[in-house]
Amino acid sequence: MFDEKAFRDRIEANWPKTPKLELNAEKKQYYRDKIKHLLKEKDAVIIAHFYVDADIQQLAEETGGYVADSLDMAKFGTKHPANTLVIVGVRFMGETAKILNPEKHVFMPDLQATCSLDEGCDPKDFEEFCKQHPDRTVVVYANTSAAIKALADWVVTSSIAVDVINYLASQGHKILWAPDRYLGSYIQRQTGADIIIWQALCIVHEEFNAEVLKELHKKHPNAAILVHPESPPEVIALADVVGSTSQLLKASIELPNQEFIVATDKGIFYKMQQASPHKNFIAAPTTGDPEMTCRACAACPWMAMNNLKNLAEVLENENNEIIIDEEIRKRALIPLQKMIDFKKD
Ligand code: 13P
Ligand code: SF4
Repeated sequence: MFDEKAFRDRIEANWPKTPKLELNAEKKQYYRDKIKHLLKEKDAVIIAHFYVDADIQQLAEETGGYVADSLDMAKFGTKHPANTLVIVGVRFMGETAKILNPEKHVFMPDLQATCSLDEGCDPKDFEEFCKQHPDRTVVVYANTSAAIKALADWVVTSSIAVDVINYLASQGHKILWAPDRYLGSYIQRQTGADIIIWQALCIVHEEFNAEVLKELHKKHPNAAILVHPESPPEVIALADVVGSTSQLLKASIELPNQEFIVATDKGIFYKMQQASPHKNFIAAPTTGDPEMTCRACAACPWMAMNNLKNLAEVLENENNEIIIDEEIRKRALIPLQKMIDFKKD
């Protein structure tokens, strides 16, 4: 079963030990040139998440790579002809790429870049939980290890979770959902499906605070509020749009508002501002208590482990390769492929 204390201890133990690397302009240029050269030499492509450093997002775009949410990252890797995928994000994203592309080399700048949802779902405990509910269809979030995916009937990301559960509920399925409690309860409210929920959470989105958000909105009454569904229900209740990172980006482009309050990792601001230079983007407040300081402060500590230096190093040394036990990979591929096929582009 999920154990809150063990979960919090594990997050502390896995919190990055070194501060985010800051590079001066000269060093940045050095690594940018080096990476561009190595990508060509090694037939490699960068696939990055919206939360990583803006310099990496920019470089991915300049070199024919891709910046996206976790669903589109997975899809892009299966379509791109490069022999080597460099996944810049957190470990489950690299594992997803490897499960889908066993013939390709998949590297990551830092294999210690984890996710609190992945850390909050231990395969042994979760297997036990599934055994207690044999009548339920097991649907897991993409933010899980390959071992958890191997136990699932379906994998989903936040961009298609509601649609998949609606579909399953219409077929009469009762659902066992893991690992995110807030995304799980959001899906439950949206679909009315019969769901039991594992109780892990995202330690970044957990910190968004509804009371302070209401105060901020009073000061910016024309701002649209955009919220990622990993946020607490009282924050989601204030949202004009709830969605995955790419859905929030789309809303920021398409809505007529000139101001937005955004409750997700601040890394997304690079793309939002690039797409709408004239619009104003404000970070949603994290904690309401003046005595309390935020820990993640709307910036995933594990996404921040990626930088131009370790990206150049992994291309040069070909270390940090994602390797997955073949039995687990084959089992994890079945529910993951369902996700890819659910909404074909
Ligand atoms: P997206 O699929 O919306 O990009 O979410 C991934 C994630 O880790 C959000 O915290
Ligand atoms: Fe995981 Fe949260 Fe970081 Fe996303 S922001 S990778 S859910 S810890």
